[in-house]
Amino acid sequence: MKAWTRGILCLLVALCAGAAGIAQPGAAPESAGHTPWWKNAVIYEIYPRSFQDSNRNGIGDLNGITSRLDYLQNLGVNAIWLTPIYPSPQVDFGYDISDYTAIDPQYGTMADFDRLTAEARKRNIGVIMDLVLNHTSDKHPWFIESASSRTNPKADWYVWHDPKIVNGKREPPNNWQSVFGHSAWQWDPARKQYYYHRFYIQQPDLNWNNPQVRKAMYDMVRFWIRHGVAGFRLDAITSLFEDPSFSNEAYVLGPDGKPVINAYGDKEVMTNKTDNLPEVHDVLRELRRVADEAGNRNVVLIGETYLESIADLRKMYGPRNDELQLPMDMQVGFINKLDVPLFRRRINEAETEIGDNQPLFVFDNHDNPRWDRYQLSASGTPVFGYGPHHAGIGRVLATILFASRDTAMFYYGDEIGMVTTPPTRKEDVKDPIGITGWPKEKGRDGERTPMQWNDGPDAGFSAGHVKTWLPIPPSYTTYNVAAEQDQPNSMLHWYEQLMALRKQDPALHSGDEIMLNTSDNKVLSWLRKAPDGEAVVVACNFTDQPRTVNLDVSAQGVQGTHASTLMITPGTPEPASLSKVQLGPYGVYVGKVQ
Ligand code: GLC
Repeated sequence: MKAWTRGILCLLVALCAGAAGIAQPGAAPESAGHTPWWKNAVIYEIYPRSFQDSNRNGIGDLNGITSRLDYLQNLGVNAIWLTPIYPSPQVDFGYDISDYTAIDPQYGTMADFDRLTAEARKRNIGVIMDLVLNHTSDKHPWFIESASSRTNPKADWYVWHDPKIVNGKREPPNNWQSVFGHSAWQWDPARKQYYYHRFYIQQPDLNWNNPQVRKAMYDMVRFWIRHGVAGFRLDAITSLFEDPSFSNEAYVLGPDGKPVINAYGDKEVMTNKTDNLPEVHDVLRELRRVADEAGNRNVVLIGETYLESIADLRKMYGPRNDELQLPMDMQVGFINKLDVPLFRRRINEAETEIGDNQPLFVFDNHDNPRWDRYQLSASGTPVFGYGPHHAGIGRVLATILFASRDTAMFYYGDEIGMVTTPPTRKEDVKDPIGITGWPKEKGRDGERTPMQWNDGPDAGFSAGHVKTWLPIPPSYTTYNVAAEQDQPNSMLHWYEQLMALRKQDPALHSGDEIMLNTSDNKVLSWLRKAPDGEAVVVACNFTDQPRTVNLDVSAQGVQGTHASTLMITPGTPEPASLSKVQLGPYGVYVGKVQ
């Protein structure tokens, strides 16, 4: 960012950030005692194909996103994360990159990108790029060169291995599997070797032991920093390295002691030799140094970190907090059932066991069913769609996300309650894993449908009468931005109000988070307490039955037995005292202690 722009931004920030003193992308120097912009920020994930089509080809694009920046600003987001927009054969819809320093013509041009970041900056919104470091497309010139012989200059840029010969026949080097089904090894007839691909065959893994690969990638990161980005979301970051022994993984065994067969019909193997190897941390430290070259712009590194324990997540921040600033905490948002003790434990761990670091909570993304997955049948399987408690569950989840002490990330369409709409016929599937895994695995199309802006043609996503790349769910006539802007009790307003409150209220912005009523397994309740003693109490009923909860926090050193209501599920009575707060089915109460 140019110095003069930064100066103006600093001024704007000072004027706009309000009581809670929120810094903005590219503005606040940490050294001056300010909080970096990403701390307590709200980050909005955009799947560019599905957000807004500006040129009537049925595919969303950059100019479409730019045209919706006012909406995002009014909503209250501080940054947008764009899933990959680089040139790509689009086998994995952009996660198979063939050129890291350009824009796919489907989405626009570099000038469009620069206009997007400039317009976003005017609205104090940062742009976060997706950084796919683990693999490239098989059409990337690096791979084409690497595959051309065993002696070319890029021969060692990917993970090549000789075959195993069994009874005179060629076999893959080991039993490692692709996350997307079947062997992770693909035979290359020219090199007469296999290459490793953790994801699709068209996504060969790079060899991160090769310093030239590292240099090329770090230079690419610098390129985007020069283009003014506020940060990066590091795709599949835990899978950069493979165990050099290349030995077999153990099979995952079911309760009957037999190997588990996955949705692709394969015997499921462990990922101990391909995921979360210690060398990942060396790369994270190097990347952080590159990001920190941007100095007080506070370029943020966010990790796609599906990890099993809080101890593993803690490691992603680095022993000296010198790796990722924001590894995604998938342990809270993806509990996938409304289990009060589990939410309480996981949130508490995130608040207390990651040192001085900042948790990043997220409930939804382009790889998983949307939050309607939390509606479960009696047997515990998700029932997608608008069930009787859709709005109630949505309010509960949004409240956990925005009223916690966290950086909050959500996915486009969550704010209007868009639901998972998977294809009903195999021939309609676009995501290749849905084709390989049909019908057990229907792929990820269901959570990638076009944004529902209004009840007009193409839901306002495209110009009308256009064949959109994925069909528009029939629910768009009821659930859309325009309709919800007019309804005081809509999900959209619930999201907006929560985001506004967490900006304005010092306790909700950055106050400590303390769990209350810790033996209640029906209502999750907590206290947010600012250093000056200001306090907010929050309660979420996780059941379809009315509940009453005691939110008296005098034992926590907070003065006051009454509260002024900040947010309440429509139809719930205002509590007369904090010791007796009534909640309807899936009811939520947020109150300022007085
Ligand atoms: C990440 C992305 C996912 C992609 C995969 C391979 O998990 O979120 O969409 O398919 O990486 O790049």
